[in-house]
Amino acid sequence: MKKRDHISAHDKEAAQYDQQVREYEYFGHDILFGMSFDYVKAHERLLDIGIGTGLASLPFAKAGLEVFGFDGSTEMLKICESKAFAKELTIFDLRETPFPYSDGYFNHVISSGVFHFFGELNAIVKEASRIIKSGGIFAFTVAAKNSKEDKAMSEDLQNYSKMPTSWGVAIFTHSNAYITSILRDNGFDNLKMQRILMRGGDKDCDDMQFRVYVAKREGK
Ligand SMILES: C[S@@+](CC[C@H](N)C(=O)[O-])C[C@H]1O[C@@H](n2cnc3c(N)ncnc32)[C@H](O)[C@@H]1O
Repeated sequence: MKKRDHISAHDKEAAQYDQQVREYEYFGHDILFGMSFDYVKAHERLLDIGIGTGLASLPFAKAGLEVFGFDGSTEMLKICESKAFAKELTIFDLRETPFPYSDGYFNHVISSGVFHFFGELNAIVKEASRIIKSGGIFAFTVAAKNSKEDKAMSEDLQNYSKMPTSWGVAIFTHSNAYITSILRDNGFDNLKMQRILMRGGDKDCDDMQFRVYVAKREGK
């Protein structure tokens, strides 16, 4: 299959996205909210990187936070806009830095189901660190190998590796050692990590493992 850009792939699938996520039995966004709930308060400002149709930030809006989001896909953003919970939605490619927000503009930053499309994550974590106020959280997901392979990957000091998929979009798994080291290098204290399982997207795909992290921005 011809390799597709992640953004155009999401433009094409935007109308079915929420339904597909349910079919894949993926509720990582709800888990991310549950793991973050202790650290957030109503009226705080939260950015959702790769907000898509808004599945991950809608529960934060219901909890009274002011949600901002950006995404590269206009079609995903249209669906998010129709849910009318976000204060500001911006079309922006996360491969471009700096992100279009001033230092310390947000209390918290989240990103669910996005980072597995990229290998190197340090530039994104660095930007998150810049725009989060001291004491705020950065909660996100990455794809993982099974725990045995993940341990071997950490020992090899391999930061990430590309996984073949049948649907033509490249996916990366990231080692826990890599994630914890870039969090630490960018001023985050890693508070929580949970492994979760998602059913394979089609009959040729195995189940996929993800990890959900919640990290706190330490004093600046
Ligand atoms: C699997 S969806 C996750 C959406 C949402 N965060 C959720 O939890 O359901 C991945 C999202 O990342 C966005 N995305 C992929 N590559 C991107 C890029 N380079 N810049 C901005 N957004 C991107 C896609 O358009 C899509 O909305």
